Amino acid sequence: METTYLVVTTALFAAVVNCCPPTDQAALLAFKSALTEPYLGIFNTWTGTDCCTNWYGVSCNPTDSRVIGIILRGESEDRIIETASQTSYMSGSLSPSLCSLDRLTTLIVADWKGISGDIPACITSLPHLRILDLIGNQITGEIPADIGQLGKLTVLNVADNNITGNIPPSIVNLGNLMHLDLSYNRISGEIPADIGKLSMMSRALLKQNQLTGSIPISITKIYRLADLDLSMNRISGTIPAELGSMPVLSTLYLDNNQLYGEIPESILKNTGLNIVNLSSNALVGYLPDVFTTTTYFSVIDLSHNELKGSIPASLSSAKYIGHLDLSNNHFCGAIPAGSPFEQLEAASFSGNDCLCGTPLTRVC
Ligand SMILES: *[C@@H]1O[C@H](CO)[C@@H](O)[C@H](O)[C@H]1NC(C)=O
Ligand SMILES: *[C@@H]1O[C@H](CO)[C@@H](O)[C@H](O)[C@H]1NC(C)=O
Repeated sequence: METTYLVVTTALFAAVVNCCPPTDQAALLAFKSALTEPYLGIFNTWTGTDCCTNWYGVSCNPTDSRVIGIILRGESEDRIIETASQTSYMSGSLSPSLCSLDRLTTLIVADWKGISGDIPACITSLPHLRILDLIGNQITGEIPADIGQLGKLTVLNVADNNITGNIPPSIVNLGNLMHLDLSYNRISGEIPADIGKLSMMSRALLKQNQLTGSIPISITKIYRLADLDLSMNRISGTIPAELGSMPVLSTLYLDNNQLYGEIPESILKNTGLNIVNLSSNALVGYLPDVFTTTTYFSVIDLSHNELKGSIPASLSSAKYIGHLDLSNNHFCGAIPAGSPFEQLEAASFSGNDCLCGTPLTRVC
């Protein structure tokens, strides 16, 4: 008798803790009903009363069964998607019902190509949210103005959507943000001047938007910043020399903007920098004569600017330059000989005023 009682209560207890709470389940079903995914049948798994078991992409906290993660990737390597012959596609929008999942730490609804509508503004009330990744959809509207409330956020990725408006000033309050990707949207206005407050940030990718204004000096104070991509915007002003003394900066894409002034020597002296693309700006002056035997770059692309003078002979002492592009400037004189130049083709030097020597056909 006693044993039976014990078994029954244990089973009841287990049922209570292992099952998704009805409010979380209702929120998930409302989220599901705002979306259509016709090819893979992901949402066919979202049935039954326990959203913590076998609901594709849903994860729960094992102790209290609250929903903590929604991970739905259109280009996932997961078997359910791999075996489907159809391309992944999902339409509809992100239901504000998500916002009642107040234990959510991870929301990844990525690469579905067809999800439209706005980012629900109430998402900023999810106090535990660490990862917000909505890359590769057709989301419109603005980034919620009070995004800065998400104090635990480490990843904010809304790249490859149709987001408009400005970068909200509150973004600088995301004290734990490590990865910011707003690339390939239609975001306009200036980069907040105090962006340097994002002291944990290691990747800042803002490529292909309509950003204006200049590169905020404060960005050069971000100690951990390794990748900075501001390419294909309308950014003007000069290149801050301080970018060249950033301790871990490895890739710097400033190409296709309206930057003017000279190339700071510090940028080409920085031994940690590996990729520098300053192509298609309005940079003037000479190529700094700062190259040494420790110079090592995968890419230096300075093409399509207004640079003049000769190519410094010191460039041939470089340890390695994988890809050098000096084309479409006003350089003149003999191309130095030496190992970094041996694998380069004429295209790296074409469209200048009066360069000569190998690999160009023009003899000096
Ligand atoms: C998003 O932008 C792309 C390209 O700019 C465009 O083809 C598409 O129609 C836009 N979608 C929406 C929903 O605005
Ligand atoms: C540098 O940027 C230009 C302009 O955006 C682009 O065309 C070029 O491919 C880039 N160079 C490299 C080596 O990626």
